[in-house]
Amino acid sequence: MGEKKFLYLENIEKRFPITGKEDYVAVTNVDLEIKENEIISIIGHSGCGKSTLLNMIAGLDRQTSGNILLNEREVKGPGPERAVVFQNHSLLPWLSVYQNIELAVKKVMPHLSKEERKERVNKFITMVNLDHARDKNPMR
Ligand SMILES: Nc1ncnc2c1ncn2[C@@H]1O[C@H](COP(=O)(O)OP(=O)(O)O)[C@@H](O)[C@H]1O
Ligand SMILES: [Mg+2]
Repeated sequence: MGEKKFLYLENIEKRFPITGKEDYVAVTNVDLEIKENEIISIIGHSGCGKSTLLNMIAGLDRQTSGNILLNEREVKGPGPERAVVFQNHSLLPWLSVYQNIELAVKKVMPHLSKEERKERVNKFITMVNLDHARDKNPMR
């Protein structure tokens, strides 16, 4: 039996449409295989396409052509098995710490009961030592 592929990128290209001009080719010809538990860095100058690539792996953006496979399934959108820490924070400033996390838990685990959801959110808040800030907004 062949080894199961974990994350596999095949001939990825991403073009951004520019009004009145030709598409901007952000990445092209990307082939990449990452094994389970392998830790890798993607290094390159500012603007070379690192974030563009990560956004496609995260399922937050779609490649123009090529395939992205995770455990031999096509990546079609975001999922709870892939996490991204954004360079700029991505919190809703008008919601509390609790509500910001609850929003994500609701989206990713819609099957949880109210009680289970509460447990989850509290677990994550405790995990990052933010119990004291549970009801504060991100800016405060
Ligand atoms: N939404 C977009 N529309 C047009 N061009 C974009 C867009 N996003 C990124 N780009 C361009 O694609 C290139 C790669 O960007 P990016 O992936 O953010 O680079 P990096 O993360 O390596 O600094 C840059 O030239 C950037 O200006
Ligand atoms: Mg970047």
